[in-house]
Amino acid sequence: MKRVLSGVQPSGNPHLGNYFGAMKNHVEMQKEYESFIFIADYHALTTVRDPETMKQLTLDLVLDYLALGIDPDKTVFFKQSDVFEHTQLNWILSCVTPHGLLERAHAWKDQLAKGKKEPTMGLFNYPVLMAADILLYDPDVVPVGKDQKQHVEMTRDIATKFNLAFGETFKLPDPYIPEEVAVIKGTDGQKMSKSYGNVIEMFADDKVLKKQVMGIQTDSTPVEDPKDPEKCNVFYLYTLFASDDEKADLEAKYKAGGFGYGDAKKLLLEKILIYFADARKKRIELAGNLDYINKVLEDGKKKARAESEKMMAKVTEKVGFVKKFI
Ligand code: ADP
Ligand code: TRP
Repeated sequence: MKRVLSGVQPSGNPHLGNYFGAMKNHVEMQKEYESFIFIADYHALTTVRDPETMKQLTLDLVLDYLALGIDPDKTVFFKQSDVFEHTQLNWILSCVTPHGLLERAHAWKDQLAKGKKEPTMGLFNYPVLMAADILLYDPDVVPVGKDQKQHVEMTRDIATKFNLAFGETFKLPDPYIPEEVAVIKGTDGQKMSKSYGNVIEMFADDKVLKKQVMGIQTDSTPVEDPKDPEKCNVFYLYTLFASDDEKADLEAKYKAGGFGYGDAKKLLLEKILIYFADARKKRIELAGNLDYINKVLEDGKKKARAESEKMMAKVTEKVGFVKKFI
């Protein structure tokens, strides 16, 4: 069975872009793959500077994933900071990673250019830690959003550098980016992103969710006129959830006229609420059962460490950190 691994930063209030671009794949892939999913809390430390916030964001993401269907019996589900080997391998890999490779990272360059984040060593080193996250578990595929593709390619470069220096150790993983969901558009038609304020959050309370859907930008075509579904953000978002028949149905309504954008938004909101009804309910139940959450993470940690320890034994031997001189 092939192995899949992915990590997600706890950044709060997941949106449809996160769901269709990442989380949904993770849930589906556990059926066909041996699966590893972790909460990238070390990575989050590049931005989060408040311990209470870190705790809350981490718990939120665990709840989100379990509610959306990550099954701890099928997926090794754990926190990055519970597995010491991530930081250990991070250092070893940083010793074979050319400085220039990291300087070319789009994410680093963007963050520097925007001047939003402090350019710490952690932020610069982000792709090396990500390479460690991946290579520790020997996965075949790494599902990520388009924006993370370069980081997976850098993982392959770093693995190759190590293999050349110390002998064949790491398998080169492939990024997996389903094209049709590579970029989910937000309420204004740009890429949906927290930083653009154009999100629809599937776990938001009813009022907030309604406001987000009703706030989708549309043109000023009057209700009675025919409308072009291909140019409409509401129609686009509806297609993410609808069957072919439902799509054709809504398309006909748009083209006939007499059907307003407000009507379309109501249909979309209903669809979202139905689609996520079970997950929304389950999330509330899980939030009331922290013993269960703690047990899931404790089990995940044990299973993850069994793998990471095996890989580190191999790596430390390759570089010459011996347990005993003979
Ligand atoms: P945001 O841009 O809102 O801060 P993140 O950067 O935290 O989102 O993204 C978390 C995951 O969700 C990543 O794997 C990313 O590629 C994916 N993702 C985020 N926004 C989108 C989008 N609009 N379309 C597809 N995938 C997305
Ligand atoms: N950088 C990824 C993101 O922001 C999260 C991440 C950390 C990750 N380590 C990883 C993803 C390893 C895949 C594999 O989305």
